[in-house]
Amino acid sequence: MRIAIALLAVLPGLAAKSTPWVYSTDDTVPEDTIRITTLGSGTPDVRRHQVASSFLIEIGNGDKFLFDMGSGSYQNLLATGQYAIDKVFLSHLHSDHHADLASLYVNAMFGRKVPLEIWGPSSEKPELGLAASIEGLRQFLAWDTFARRRVDMIGRKDKGDTVIAHEFDYKIEKQVIYSRDGVNITATPVEHYTTGGPSALRVDWNSLSFVYSGDTHPTRTLNELAEGTDMLIQQIMGPLPAFDTLSFESQYLLNTSHFTPAQAGEIFNLTKPRLAVIHHATVNDASREALVSDVRDKYPKGGLVINEDLAVYDISKEGVRHRKRIVPERSWGFWHAESNWNSLEAGQQQFAALYK
Ligand SMILES: *[C@@H]1O[C@H](CO)[C@@H](O)[C@H](O)[C@H]1NC(C)=O
Ligand SMILES: *[C@@H]1O[C@H](CO)[C@@H](O)[C@H](O)[C@H]1NC(C)=O
Ligand SMILES: *[C@@H]1O[C@H](CO)[C@@H](O)[C@H](O)[C@H]1NC(C)=O
Ligand SMILES: [Zn+2]
Repeated sequence: MRIAIALLAVLPGLAAKSTPWVYSTDDTVPEDTIRITTLGSGTPDVRRHQVASSFLIEIGNGDKFLFDMGSGSYQNLLATGQYAIDKVFLSHLHSDHHADLASLYVNAMFGRKVPLEIWGPSSEKPELGLAASIEGLRQFLAWDTFARRRVDMIGRKDKGDTVIAHEFDYKIEKQVIYSRDGVNITATPVEHYTTGGPSALRVDWNSLSFVYSGDTHPTRTLNELAEGTDMLIQQIMGPLPAFDTLSFESQYLLNTSHFTPAQAGEIFNLTKPRLAVIHHATVNDASREALVSDVRDKYPKGGLVINEDLAVYDISKEGVRHRKRIVPERSWGFWHAESNWNSLEAGQQQFAALYK
């Protein structure tokens, strides 16, 4: 109980709406809200406190999605207690945005009773597109899924162990790639690594929206997608030394593939979201100030947050509320909850008991 009391004391605003327990049932998303939990805010250089890009999207109508599933992010998904996610949207096919799909596909099937559906872009050649990538994933895990069907899947008639790829044409601007139950997800091409495919994504529901830039250099198409949105999650590379002191390679990378913090300030100033979020930065106490001051040069006022793992954003008509999701350091995955205790409820009680 000591842990719970300490947390509630530090985060009084959180106490009313959520608890520190991973299986908590009173931590549901309000009906009028889009909740975004950052599962990974970092770069391919995964760190214990900053894994690669991933977001859990929970909509007030009960829908749940993942945006990207970068290296290391699966552990943070499990820590949130969300096992039954079956829809994933990929901004592009860099490993820091999709490498943990392997874990989600096979390990999360214990909570998932329907196929895992994955949306992602095509590319310049068929073998570079989403469908080929998912076919490769299936092959990568062929022994795993075959073996599981003989043991873990015995008696199960559901499709939790299958995966479906929805490849969309990467060239089409502002394309609605998903439209169900009042939720639209729109993709638009952006500029990253000079090879076609990278896309930005936008969610619209209940007159609320947010945009996730994916990884990109500044581009008209992103400006247009982000017009009038409530929240813009903008990827940047940084913090950076002065541009003219950078090597040719670093300059070329920035020129073709990434936003600088100052360029992020420019798109925030242009699109004026209710909350601007800097994402994909390597955040240390020492770098925070430099990042903010570079963005603020171009975006002097307006809400600004540097994204970190397990940051939560609740978007509603009242505004965007920024908090931190409380999860256990040693969460139990669905595998343990189910196989050790036979029921989720028993698992919850056992889990809570550990923290008494
Ligand atoms: C979703 O997209 C369709 C077009 O594909 C449009 O008719 C509809 O108004 C959109 N709904 C939302 C909530 O944006
Ligand atoms: C990057 O862009 C800047 C500004 O347009 C230009 O001065 C510089 O030469 C470019 N460098 C590379 C390596 O592309
Ligand atoms: C923000 O954008 C406006 C144009 O809409 C421009 O006049 C202004 O200089 C920009 N602010 C900064 C700090 O760059
Ligand atoms: Zn990336």
